[in-house]
Amino acid sequence: MAIASGITPRRDLDFGFSTDMPRHWAQGDAFKSRLLDAFSLQVPIGERLAMRSVQAFASGITDATLADAVRAFMAQEGQHSLQHRQFNDGLAAQGVAVHRLARWGQRQADGVFGLLPRHWCLALMAGVEHLNAVFGRALLRNSLDFSGEDSRALALHVWHGAEEWEHRAVCFEVLRTQTRTRRLTRVAMYAVAALLFPSQLTLTQIYLLRVDGLSWWGIAGLFKRHWRWLWGRDGFFRQQMRAQRAYLRGDFHPSQQADDATFRRWEQAMAEHGDPLRALSELHTV
Ligand SMILES: [Fe+2]
Ligand SMILES: [Fe+2]
Repeated sequence: MAIASGITPRRDLDFGFSTDMPRHWAQGDAFKSRLLDAFSLQVPIGERLAMRSVQAFASGITDATLADAVRAFMAQEGQHSLQHRQFNDGLAAQGVAVHRLARWGQRQADGVFGLLPRHWCLALMAGVEHLNAVFGRALLRNSLDFSGEDSRALALHVWHGAEEWEHRAVCFEVLRTQTRTRRLTRVAMYAVAALLFPSQLTLTQIYLLRVDGLSWWGIAGLFKRHWRWLWGRDGFFRQQMRAQRAYLRGDFHPSQQADDATFRRWEQAMAEHGDPLRALSELHTV
């Protein structure tokens, strides 16, 4: 299966970030807010690794559609990094060790990526991209679950999630066409990503809750109270499992997973006015 074009880089978006962002912006819910804040802290490092992994094979791409898709992918990931850095500055103002965490994460990532062959790095990032795309689509579908009085952070995550969904096939397609990576390696690297991504997210979330002054017991209670929301029937993570598992199939390609109505609605709103805050509020208008 080839890649479809239609990836739109959206630049100069204005989310109105400031250094006095509310801590628990998602319905006043510390667990949900800090879950997505933890994601945001990982974005600049993740985007850099994704761009670096794809860039390593970009010069060999001769297919014009894929070359265009790679350029759009780079532009989108660059913007994600930029906007999340601005948002993360607000977290720094709350006492979060944003820069220390970034330096530490970067050192770990550089160490691992320095050891692995280039096509393994790309396979790892193709796995991360699949995790991100399915996570992004779940965010779009469930954005009301995170909706509070201040919608700036949520608009950022919905925009990012939608674009992850939009460019979901790029990394995979570069891996498929520019390397001879076997299914076993692709699946093994995905398994590594699927272990690292949630554990890193959870550890960072716990750290953020500690910054908020919660005790270990308080944090354990929060996880207990949100267990059903995450893993119960149609829970936020549980509903992603089927699409995640599809990656293990030998004939899998991200383009097989169809867009859904929420994504199309968001995409259309952005094409009409280019305002991510308004696009989010339109998703919530029946
Ligand atoms: Fe991204
Ligand atoms: Fe991405």
